[in-house]
Amino acid sequence: MNIGIDKLSFYVPNLYVDMTDLAHARDTDPNKFHIGIGQDKMAVSPVTQDIVTLGANAAAKILSDKDKEEIDMVIVGTESSYDFSKASAVAIHRLLGIQPFARSFEIKEACYGATAALQMAKNYIAEHPTRKVLVIAADLARYGLNSGGEPTQGAGAIAILVTSDPRILTIENDSVFLTEDIYDFWRPSYADFPLVDGPLSNETYIQSFGKVWNRHKEVTGQTLADYDALCFHIPYTKMGKKALLSVLSETDEATQERLMNRYEESITYSRNVGNLYTGSLFLGLISLLDISKELDAGSTIGLFSYGSGAVSEFFTVRLVEGYKEQLAVQEHQKLLENRRKLAIDEYEEIFTQALPKHGEAATFDDEILFSIEKVENDIRFYKEN
Ligand code: COA
Repeated sequence: MNIGIDKLSFYVPNLYVDMTDLAHARDTDPNKFHIGIGQDKMAVSPVTQDIVTLGANAAAKILSDKDKEEIDMVIVGTESSYDFSKASAVAIHRLLGIQPFARSFEIKEACYGATAALQMAKNYIAEHPTRKVLVIAADLARYGLNSGGEPTQGAGAIAILVTSDPRILTIENDSVFLTEDIYDFWRPSYADFPLVDGPLSNETYIQSFGKVWNRHKEVTGQTLADYDALCFHIPYTKMGKKALLSVLSETDEATQERLMNRYEESITYSRNVGNLYTGSLFLGLISLLDISKELDAGSTIGLFSYGSGAVSEFFTVRLVEGYKEQLAVQEHQKLLENRRKLAIDEYEEIFTQALPKHGEAATFDDEILFSIEKVENDIRFYKEN
């Protein structure tokens, strides 16, 4: 049975910072951000958006009433949870009006969570081929003002509908995964921002890719030449490129050129959004599918997922006949174009705004489809415009 992605979309907040402005404000050469790190714009989330609203805004665009009746599970991959007990998936399930006899829960393992969710969805559909699973990757990627990771922040969500006989791509049964207990990036439960050993995270990312890729070759016999494109987790666009370059010498020149060209297509959206944590790999996939003129039905794409800590996975997806008709290319590009650029002092003010804590109340008014309307008695109330 073919199982995979039937619908796929993303949502990012409508505010951004230009990386040249940020470089000037931080007394840094803009080329470090644009070339050295590979980022042009960075999405900034207003206080009225959290993982629930980002996820609901991403999913609302793709779900029909029939989908909502047929979805049995809502799984959110995130590392931006605001509650240790109640899952954001429960609120998303209600906001989207999904039928009540469903499972809703969160998965956590840094930026890897949504891949675990996707594979769990695939396994469920294998047992229940007439049903559907909604996978959401939603995060606020925040390192803090003036921090080393500041130019690699971002925010947004991906929504993925997993079904049998999918209309975009099938997920092959070839996953290779790896777990290694490493402290490259982590966030103790009391901390607002992650603790990160940047150089170690870069090194672990590249080594993890090498390990799962080499094992995948051993297990499947496939080589780089078998792939039309590779997509990577993109904490910043230079990162995936480093991983790709680390293996390119094992293949011929035509394959090298093809994979590099597809890589550039896969990072176009991320260059303008920044890090989505769990969603970054899938924003790369959407960017590739939306932009590339070189892919077709049957094209094979290798996906490398990496979550600090560290868990990684390499697996293959295959495009199906008619996949282009399922893509929301214009809508995606409009979403990116219609954002407002923030001056750096505005960004810093928005970044430091926080929702009330310890029972304090506040109300908000935002025109976005789903947003936080008020916080009262430590409960977030959401509204739909
Ligand atoms: N023009 C062009 N390139 C420049 C430059 C300039 N003026 N100044 C610096 N660079 C390049 C550096 O040569 C380096 O390139 P390289 O990595 O190919 O060698 C790159 O810009 C980054 O410079 P570096 O000095 O390493 O930056 P940094 O100390 O600020 O750290 C990160 C960068 C990514 C480690 C940091 O932003 C971070 O910790 N991010 C969060 C963690 C993360 O995303 N990890 C990834 C794995 S999940």
